[in-house]
Amino acid sequence: MSLVVVLVILLLTWMYFNIRRPPGTPPGPTPYPIIGNVPILIGDVSPWTIFKSMTFKYGQVFSVKFGSFWTVVINDHEHAHEALLTKLNDFSGRPYSYNFNWYSENGKDIAFGQPSPTWKLHRKLAHLAIRQYTTDNLETLIGEVIRKIGGVLSEKAGNPFDPKEVITLAVYNVIASMCFGKSYEFNDPELLEFIKISDERNNALGNGTLADFIPAARFLPSTSVNTFRRVSLELFAIILKEVNRHLKAYSPDEPANDLIELLLKTQNDEMETDNSDSKLTDVHIKQIVSDLFIAGTETSTSTLLWAVACMIDNPDVQEKIKKELDDVIGDRPPQLSDREKLPYTDAVIMEIMRYGTVVPLSLIHCAIKDSTIGNYNVTTGTGVIINAWALHNDSKYWDSPEKFKPERFLDSTCTIKQHLPSYLPFSTGRRACVGQALAKAQIFLIFTWLIQNYTFEKAPGVTGDVAIEGIPMIVTFTRPYQTVAHSRY
Ligand code: HEM
Repeated sequence: MSLVVVLVILLLTWMYFNIRRPPGTPPGPTPYPIIGNVPILIGDVSPWTIFKSMTFKYGQVFSVKFGSFWTVVINDHEHAHEALLTKLNDFSGRPYSYNFNWYSENGKDIAFGQPSPTWKLHRKLAHLAIRQYTTDNLETLIGEVIRKIGGVLSEKAGNPFDPKEVITLAVYNVIASMCFGKSYEFNDPELLEFIKISDERNNALGNGTLADFIPAARFLPSTSVNTFRRVSLELFAIILKEVNRHLKAYSPDEPANDLIELLLKTQNDEMETDNSDSKLTDVHIKQIVSDLFIAGTETSTSTLLWAVACMIDNPDVQEKIKKELDDVIGDRPPQLSDREKLPYTDAVIMEIMRYGTVVPLSLIHCAIKDSTIGNYNVTTGTGVIINAWALHNDSKYWDSPEKFKPERFLDSTCTIKQHLPSYLPFSTGRRACVGQALAKAQIFLIFTWLIQNYTFEKAPGVTGDVAIEGIPMIVTFTRPYQTVAHSRY
């Protein structure tokens, strides 16, 4: 009897400490033992919408426990600014994730690596490759890609089709060219393999597996984890094949033409000049290329799908863009230097990225030292989620945020507004998106060309809006939709 009493007391004490919120930390719902607050996310509603609705009870900053991990959720611009910029040294880590730690070989990439001199060098190299590629090669490549899109669209013109295939092929072509220096035909088996891998990976992972939240679940068999590992290995195999091809063909004395060449050249220079521990091993090279590939393809594809959907739902906006393009550039292909002469088109792209926030919860950060957000304590190791979707739908900053209104980004002289506090599609601070410049440039070039050359309409029988959020994921797409494209020329 006394043993039972002792066991019950021990169990109750464990439960008390398991669910107790650390003192001074942000308020939030009481967690269950072991699973924490995971049940709040079960259902049809997206996590970012649930988090925003929780602000009415707990305030703009609250905490939840996912399995065994405490996480602070920030829902407004003021606290996001504090975490990402004012206290960037405190919150620039990434939390441990079972799947992504395996994938990144313990954070040897950029997106899941912890801040360190090595990680900083990798970010710098990625920036350099992206900047060089965007300035030197992007317009030429997009010219080729556009010809291929034109071929596919002229076959589909006048009939309903899903634009996902053609947009995916265009974006993958651009990123593969930046990474590998190759341009692909739309039916190239390797390009189709990348897309298959990416789809399988997303379906397997969704918003994380049980093993990411509950350590004990790592010992259970999981089809999701197995699929994720299999397709990741397939992606690594393609990347390694490309690295080996480059190793045979490139010369360290020539200027680098793509990301792999730049990384190999840096590795070569490092070996010649530096005897300290290598900051750019073969594993790092594989990881950096894989990061840019994954981070660069899904986000831009999703944004362009939101873009076409928003144009179908808002034909008046589509007409205004066409008029601006006709007046400013006529029928020649758009160039990057046109952007500043096209403020309305620019405002539309910005509104697309607000309205269809494609990375709604950004990527989760982690406190790397004890710190504070607002009046609350945040202890080392706590996850920090910036709810970018809530920032983009904050009625304090956006008039009728549920409406698609590009004019909100223009001032009274029709110039793009410079100060946009509650707008963070690419995040900011130490971990801000590395590919921002490339993403903006390729989205501008592909989107303006599409609207200049085609009018997108609802497919027959479709009623209601098509720019509607699909299954909630780290990168969130629209629901699949059909459109009819009419050629303008
Ligand atoms: C519309 C397109 C894109 C959007 C909306 C987007 C958005 C984001 C966001 C919100 C983050 C998380 C930042 C944070 O943790 O605070 C991120 C990280 C990242 N993005 Fe992008 N991104 C886009 C395109 C790209 C492209 C084209 C590339 C590269 C080719 C890229 C590479 C990366 C990388 C490597 C990171 C991790 C940065 C780090 O952890 O330090 N992204 N992006």
